[in-house]
Amino acid sequence: MQKKRTEPTVFINPVPLVMVSCGDERGRSSIITVGWGGGLCADPPFVGIAVRRDRYSHGIITDAGEYAVNLPSRELLAAVDYCGTISGRDRDKFADTGLNPQPAGELDWTALIHECPVNLECRVEEVLRLGTHDFFVARVVASHVRETWTDDRGRIRAPSEELLAYCTGTYLSMGEELGSRGRSFGPGA
Ligand SMILES: Cc1cc2nc3c(=O)[nH]c(=O)nc-3n(C[C@H](O)[C@H](O)[C@H](O)COP(=O)(O)O)c2cc1C
Repeated sequence: MQKKRTEPTVFINPVPLVMVSCGDERGRSSIITVGWGGGLCADPPFVGIAVRRDRYSHGIITDAGEYAVNLPSRELLAAVDYCGTISGRDRDKFADTGLNPQPAGELDWTALIHECPVNLECRVEEVLRLGTHDFFVARVVASHVRETWTDDRGRIRAPSEELLAYCTGTYLSMGEELGSRGRSFGPGA
């Protein structure tokens, strides 16, 4: 394969999308769509999100030290796009999208998004100051999962066709299964 050396890039695609809700003591709140985030550690459970310093949400999360990661399903695409385009400085994104705030179990000021099938309540433990973006490393202190997405052993079983991904300006649905973990190599794969 011929390759061209480019400027150093962060091109790791596609990415999953999450809707991060946040609120603080002063009554500010927002929902920000985030593509640069993910799970970091299984036990104890940690996640991280990269938020640009000039985002309204950045100040809220910095002050509150908490946020909620809400995983949208594909029917929430319009709200995902809206929350990723409009700032909470100018608009109330819960009111505009029709999403309903759901009280958190552990967090002090942050509401969860009722319509999202997975909600992770997160407390910030470290902030990595990287440049344009800061990376908020947070412990997951409570999780909520749509009942039909759990099996009888409590494991999460999300239907892949309901999940959303994003790649270079385009929203994608997941769906086609290409193989199973641990069984996609060797003879017969
Ligand atoms: C698909 C998509 C992914 C995004 N990912 C990020 C991200 O990872 N970090 C970030 O700071 N902004 C990201 N944004 C931009 C913010 O969601 C957007 O600027 C939002 O309006 C900020 O809201 P706020 O000003 O209320 O915080 C993304 C936007 C879209 C549409």
